[in-house]
Amino acid sequence: MDQTRSSHNDPYHEPVLRTEVVELFAPVADGTIVDGTFGGGGHAMALLEAHPTAWVLGIDRDPDAIANAPSHRRLKVVNGNFADVASIVESLRSHEHEPPFPPVRGVLLDLGISSHQVDTARRGFSYHRTGPLDMRMGPDAERDAAQLLAEADVGELTRIFRTYGEERFARRIAQAIVRARPLRDTTHLASVVAEAVPAPARRAAHPARRVFQAIRIAVNAELDALERGLDAGIDLLPGGGRIVVIAYHSLEDRIVKARFVTGARTCTCPPDLPVCACGATPELKILTKRPLRPSEAEIATNPRARSARLRAAEKLHAGASGVEESP
Ligand SMILES: C[S@@+](CC[C@H](N)C(=O)[O-])C[C@H]1O[C@@H](n2cnc3c(N)ncnc32)[C@H](O)[C@@H]1O
Repeated sequence: MDQTRSSHNDPYHEPVLRTEVVELFAPVADGTIVDGTFGGGGHAMALLEAHPTAWVLGIDRDPDAIANAPSHRRLKVVNGNFADVASIVESLRSHEHEPPFPPVRGVLLDLGISSHQVDTARRGFSYHRTGPLDMRMGPDAERDAAQLLAEADVGELTRIFRTYGEERFARRIAQAIVRARPLRDTTHLASVVAEAVPAPARRAAHPARRVFQAIRIAVNAELDALERGLDAGIDLLPGGGRIVVIAYHSLEDRIVKARFVTGARTCTCPPDLPVCACGATPELKILTKRPLRPSEAEIATNPRARSARLRAAEKLHAGASGVEESP
């Protein structure tokens, strides 16, 4: 993994919707905010600077992000998957030598990959830069893109491109990849994909964009991590705690929306039951009726913000597995 932080002119990552994130966590800024996708620490540092009583626990799957993390008295960073946030928080608590973190009151997930990861050719995330077919966010991924592309049959590749890339020409691309094996590198893959799609489909976005997204999601089991991370993050929060999630494509955003809607539901009875029998009270209050989007001004300075959708929710009461407030 690359161990170098970018120069000043090439920041590690420009945090998206920074002001909105800082404001959404203001009511819980006397506690610890878990930043489950630490990246370059842009959001984390903005939170620490804006809220002098907040602490941040930063988690990232990528050891490079952890190695390059800035230091701050109220910041602790850990290499791991945010899906395992419960055990990460628990193991920090059990280490008596650790600084005394206040209780967790916020969870931030800024999904996807950082600019630094995309721009580092040897990570293999970019179809514009020649690099190995890696695409692992961290060494915990079971197999890299090269292994996946070498081992998967047409059926599995079609499913991956259709499900995770919403790619119309999934089967044609899968067949072309199997015919072209072995694939040398990222730009070889990109050219095989471009040749496999009909000419009109090459005009809009780069034809390999959806395929690279799909392979990355599969390699890193991203949607599974998101589902587990949302459950674990919400579980961790006490009443009044807040969760903020920034998604960059519709697959992620749908999962976040569905989880929040389920949590905000008052009644879980079957719809054909005439009277409520469950007596359930909602677990969440949704704070963003519609997702927040970056302004045109933000997109102009940071084009990668364009597809961002921010959703936030507040925990209404700690569930059975919720963390109790310590004094
Ligand atoms: C968009 S970047 C976050 C940028 C960060 N908010 C900032 O301001 O610099 C996403 C980061 O999340 C990490 N990541 C993605 N999925 C993860 C997961 N399941 N567990 C931990 N880290 C994850 C990636 O490695 C990447 O560094």
